[in-house]
This record gives sequence, structure tokens and C-alpha cells, in this order.
Amino acid sequence: MIPAPQLSSSLAAVSRSRDAGRQCAGPFGYFDEPRREYVITRPDLPTPWINYLGLEAYCALISNTAGGYSFHLDPRDRRLLRFRYNHVPMDRPGRYLFLRDEARATFWSLTWQPTCQALGPGAFECRHGLGYTTIRTRVQGLDATVEYLVPPRDPVELWTATLRNTGRLARQLSLFSYAEFCILQALMDQTDFQYTLNIAKAVRSGRLLLHLTNYFPDAGRRHLAFFGVDRALSGFDCDREAFLGPYQGEGSPQVVAQGRSRNSIASGGNPIGSHWIRLRLRPGQSTTIRFVLGASVSPAHAARMTRRYTRPSAARKARAELAASWERYLSHMRVQTPEPGVDLLINTWNAYQCRVTFNWSRSASYYESGIGRGMGFRDSNQDTLGVVHAIPDRVRARILTLARNQFARGDAYHQYFPLTGQGDKTGYSDDHLWLIVSTMAYLKETGEYVILKTRTPFVDGPPASLYEHLARALNYSYAQLGPHELPLIGVADWNDCLNPTGPRAQAESVWVAEFLYYVTNEMIALARRLGCRMDAARWARKAARLRVAVNRHAWDGAWFIRAFDDRRRPIGSHRCREGKIHLNAQSWAVISGITTPDRARRCMDAVRRFLDSPHGIRLCAPAYTTYDPSVGAVGTFEPGLKENGGIFCHANPWAMMAEALLGRADRAFTYYRKIAPTFRNRLADVHQAEGYVYPQFIAAPPHRDAGRARNSWLTGSAAWNYVFATQYLLGVRPTLDGLLLDPCLPQAWPGFCMQRIFRGARYDIHVRRARAGYRGMRVDGRPVPSRLVPVFRDRRVHRVELALAETRNGSR
Ligand code: GLC
Repeated sequence: MIPAPQLSSSLAAVSRSRDAGRQCAGPFGYFDEPRREYVITRPDLPTPWINYLGLEAYCALISNTAGGYSFHLDPRDRRLLRFRYNHVPMDRPGRYLFLRDEARATFWSLTWQPTCQALGPGAFECRHGLGYTTIRTRVQGLDATVEYLVPPRDPVELWTATLRNTGRLARQLSLFSYAEFCILQALMDQTDFQYTLNIAKAVRSGRLLLHLTNYFPDAGRRHLAFFGVDRALSGFDCDREAFLGPYQGEGSPQVVAQGRSRNSIASGGNPIGSHWIRLRLRPGQSTTIRFVLGASVSPAHAARMTRRYTRPSAARKARAELAASWERYLSHMRVQTPEPGVDLLINTWNAYQCRVTFNWSRSASYYESGIGRGMGFRDSNQDTLGVVHAIPDRVRARILTLARNQFARGDAYHQYFPLTGQGDKTGYSDDHLWLIVSTMAYLKETGEYVILKTRTPFVDGPPASLYEHLARALNYSYAQLGPHELPLIGVADWNDCLNPTGPRAQAESVWVAEFLYYVTNEMIALARRLGCRMDAARWARKAARLRVAVNRHAWDGAWFIRAFDDRRRPIGSHRCREGKIHLNAQSWAVISGITTPDRARRCMDAVRRFLDSPHGIRLCAPAYTTYDPSVGAVGTFEPGLKENGGIFCHANPWAMMAEALLGRADRAFTYYRKIAPTFRNRLADVHQAEGYVYPQFIAAPPHRDAGRARNSWLTGSAAWNYVFATQYLLGVRPTLDGLLLDPCLPQAWPGFCMQRIFRGARYDIHVRRARAGYRGMRVDGRPVPSRLVPVFRDRRVHRVELALAETRNGSR
């Protein structure tokens, strides 16, 4: 066993100090880093701040007031709990528990929503942890804590409510639970009411409420949802309308107001699960009520699950397993830097978000309904970059699944749905090329080349090796060149909304050219290593021509043009009225190495001059004010939002990487801080979205809400900011030959430490700035001539020391 770089070491202890978390506090809460929790101190945030529970097959989204929904395996085809997206009031319904004081005939919710009762100071706290959320409220002398958790092994969620009477009088109480079921097929559930409102079936069986609606995609197998509790019921409801009463919302259910369940079953209509439990609490007395909700295949299995997880010991075990599994996951890389905001992200929160995005791509969030968007092909490939060091086997499996979504001629489906495996949408010019990026990341991390020989079928062709899949992806792009010998943009490239149309379908993408150049060089390196010299030579010739084409046609004088429209007119040129400069064509000119050092510096200077803003780098400027089909849907967004000149957090780290490659450390780090959630948390009232995860974008000037973040959680921002921080800023970068140390530290930093598990050994890396004395690298005390750390694979700990020379812009 490799010793886990964990709590025993001073490194982890320091970087998880209470202080670090408090330093990044904001108006709505703070990081409790020793517990790896984000603590939210008021319920009524500008947007719901959510968490994802469930490591593998089961997923429960939950907000700071218990809103959210659940699914098993697939948010479209196996949806368990319903959500009303974009509803007023927002964030409904959820996993609610209503408490009714029988003597006073008053009631409230243990999670604030949906009754939204007035709360005194300190009467609310939500703690989002890794895979669990706890909400505390104090109302009328009753302290309540509800913990929501998804155990690692089974497709269930546990709601554990603890009530304590802090007053002087005994209390007679009724607790009503509420969960609204979805009929498994989320699309039908939201659209085809003439059908769905006549199929629902939900009944009581002892302490269990069973949702048995007879509609499921994989016919022949029964799927049901269940909701059980650990004690006898005084009543129940399975019909939503019976529970709420006519014209009532979730905040004022008639059953709760009157203190009596209707004992309704659902037979058509809207199925719910609501238990009625009567409680008596003496002063000082507390009690814990355990609910289990989940997916099952039979009532007997549901009963077993409920029995298992309502046992306090099972819940304790699940909690311990969950914690251990996250500790294991996070133990692969730990850092201590002079910036608590960086440590919080790398050690916990950015890594956590990377895992969630890896699991669910862009499918199911508060902004994505889990219906139209499945697992994105380009998205999922990029998501592997944030997790490959910790779960290489899962990444390997994902790469092979993605390869199955490729066509024999080389291009790929844009997305697929996890349960059915069904692919959807084609024609994007970059999708297939991302398979090269994920595979290379896997190879650089693990050195396991055998994956290249693994054979998987194409959508429309017999199995071929992964190497063949990659080669076809590359060759396909070279077969799709337009009038300037640049890749045709097709439906769109990475920028989904830069989709110029026209009768000739001749629009070209300069960014794809740069990206293609980058992946071609990756493939050349791979082919050489594998002894495929012919491939390497052929691709080198193609890359050379691409380089000429880009530098000849796409240099605009001070930056690179982004694309050419169908009539060969430039997009992203000083000659354009709007959208004169686009970010990606500059950052990737540097990352790909396709241009000269002089142009590389100049185009990134133009980025700073024309795209930088106080809240991050805009994707283009000036934003488009009208929709022009020859440019694309980008002009449909309000100026400053999303791809239309918004601060696209996915593309920002590419600019940071480019600056790091140019050695301009302070500039790179300034960009990083502008969008990093831990640094922005102080501005939470402006930023609005979660202070612990990246959003897809932040509104930019000229928008009146500049600084406001939207579309949090499922975004490529997670993986790429993680890649920038760990591989470029700290510069610990896996290569085919081993771990390269190439830090690019801000001037103010004296150094940093990292513990990193890599190819079967643990590296304790200490980087410091050397004003005098020895400069260079030592491994286990011995000088090493290069910056490449040897691969040991000996399951031991190795000490790596790097003394950096000073440079004008920081240390390299
Ligand atoms: C969204 C998409 C991603 C795309 C990006 C830019 O994040 O999920 O695939 O690259 O927008 O348009």
C-alpha cells in the first residue's frame, strides 16, 4: 500500500485549518474545512445553493432549503423525484418535513422551505458536505436537524431528522413527510399530461409508501420508488391533491394545517409519499426519525432496504464509508500554498466538483433539466481531466464508452444517454477530437498503454482498437478543410453558439485549427512512442500545413481571427463591427504552439487589453447586439451573458494556461483569482451563485448585472480550473515520460508543497524560491538533471525538492 498522504502529515493539517475556511468567508456563509463542509447561514439566498449526493448510480440534488430531485442511473429515463424547474416560487418541491404543534395548531418546515417561516438570528444553518447535507432550524423551542445522505452502495437516500424540545413544556407534535414522485420518464412527466395523469399508482404497505406507476423504458423489468420510515404511521397520503387541498401550494398543505392525513392512495393524478407520525417530547427530550427513499425492483426489496437503513448502525456505517471514500479520493493530491483560497479548491471543493461533473456531465442540475442533454461527448472527455489522477479505472471505462459513440468515419455523437446508451446529435467539428485529449491524459497519468489496444465498436462499424478510434478522429478532421485550408466549423465548434450558417456550409473555425494542431502533436508523440512512424510522419506533414494556413490567414495584426463565415468574411477581427476579438483563438494559439513567440505574447496582450474585466475574461468583445445568422446564435443572448461576451469560466483557465506557458505568472494568477469561487465568495451578494463551486459563466460588462454568476456546478470550468491550478500554476504536470515540475508561481509566493500519488508511488514535492545557493531539482536528496521526476512504481514515498530561479514575472 502506498501510504495515504493524509491527516497525520502536517501538510494536510495546515491546509485544512479552520482559519483557511474562515478567510474565504462571504456574506452567506463560510468554509468549515476541518469537516470539509460549506456552512450557509441564511436560507433565503439569491439562488438556491445546491449539493449533489450520491457517488455512483444514485443522485440526489439538494438545495440549502432541501429543494431538489433524485434519479437512479439516468436523469431522463429513471427519475424518482419530481422538480418544477424555473418555478415560482423558486426551488420547489423538495424533501420536506413539516412539523405541527398540536396544542397551538401551528406548523412549519424543518428546512425553511416551503413554509418559509420567520426565523430568528442563528436559527438556520445548512451544511453542505461531501455527499451529504445537513439543515438545522430552531423554531418555537424545537431544535431540528435533518441530515440527507446517499450511502455509497445502494440506490437510496436517507433522511434523518432529530428533534429536541428545548422549552419547558411537553410538546405534542405531528411530523408529516413529503416527497413528490416522478413517473420515471422525466420528459413524459413534464409534457404528456393527458397520458401521465392517468397512470400513477402509489399505495401504502405498512410503513412503506410505494410508487408503482407502471411505466418504464426497459419494459419487462419493474422499477419502483419507495419511501419508508422507522416507526408506525398515524396516517399517510399518496395523492398530491388530497395532501395539498385545492388551490394550495406546498407551503400550506391542508393535511398539515388540519393535522390529519387523508390516507389517500394515488390512482392516476400525481403520486406523492407522505407519512404522518405523532410524537410527544418532554422538555429536554430528543428523538430521531429515520426515513429511507430510493429506487427498487420489488416491494420486498424496498422493505429490506428500509429495514437495513433505518437501523442506526447501518446509517452510521454508511456515513463512515462515505467519508472514507471521499478521503480516499482526495488523498491522491494535496497541496499547501500561501493562498487558502487555492488550497480549499484543490484539496476539497474543486476536486469535489470535478467528480460530480465527471458523474453527470451536463445532464442534470438546477439549470439543465436532465432531459434534453445527456452525457456530452466533448464535455465528458474534458471532465476526465479533473479526476484521472484519482479514479483512473473509471476514466478508462468512460473513455471506452465514449469511443462507442464514435462513427466509423471518425466523427462522434454530440451526447449519449447513460441508461439506454442512445446517442444524439452530430456535426460538431471538435467533438471527436476530445477523445484524444482524454486518452492522452489517461496515458500520461497511468503509463498504461494497453488501453490503446482495447477494441470497441463504432456506432456503425465493427470493433477497432482505441488507437484506431483516435487516428480516425484525427483523419476525419483533416478531411473537412474549407477554403482557407482550415477546418470547417460544421454545426459549431467548442462554442456551441458560434454556429455560422450559410448556403455553402463553408464556414471555418480557426480555433478548431489550433485545437487540431494541438491534438495532432499529441498523436505524433504517441505514434512515435508506439513505433508507428508512418502515422507520425503523415500527421506531421498535415500539422505543418495547418500551421501555415493559420498564420497566413488568421493573423489579424494584433490577435487571431476566430472563424470565417460562409462567405469567407472573418469573425473576430478588428474589421468586424462587433465581436472583434474572441478569447479562445488567442489562448489556444499559445497552448497549441501553432504560432511564433512574438504573436503568442501579442495576442495574449490583446486579451488583457480588450477582454479582461474586474470579474474575469470575457469570451468576446464587444458583445453582439443583434442576431446575425452568419455569425450564429451567440447574438441571441443579451450582451454580456453566456457566450455573448460573458465571462465563460470554462475558457478562462485556457487563458491562464497560455499566460503560464508564456511565463507570466502574476497575470495568470490574477485571472485565476478573479473567477475562483473561494476568492469570489466575499462578493456573494453580487456573485449570487454557490461560493464553493464554479459556475458556467459570470455576467460581464456591459450587462447591468456584471459579476453575477449563473449555471453553477456542471461545467467544464471545474476540470480546466483544476488543471490550470495543479498543472500550470503549481506546474506538477503528468507527461508520457513522468511527472514534470514546471511551476509558474506569482512573485509573492515563496513556494508550495504538494503530496501526489503518481504511478504507484507517493511524491512529497517541495518547491521554493531560491535567491541564492542550489537551484534545480533533487529527488530523495540526489540532484536530477532535468525537471522530470523519475517514475518509481515502488509504492514508497519520495521526496522531491525544487529550488526555483527568480524571473521578472514570477518564478519558473
Ligand atoms: C456549454 C457546453 C459545452 C460548450 C460550452 C461553450 O458549457 O456544455 O459543450 O463547449 O457551453 O459553448
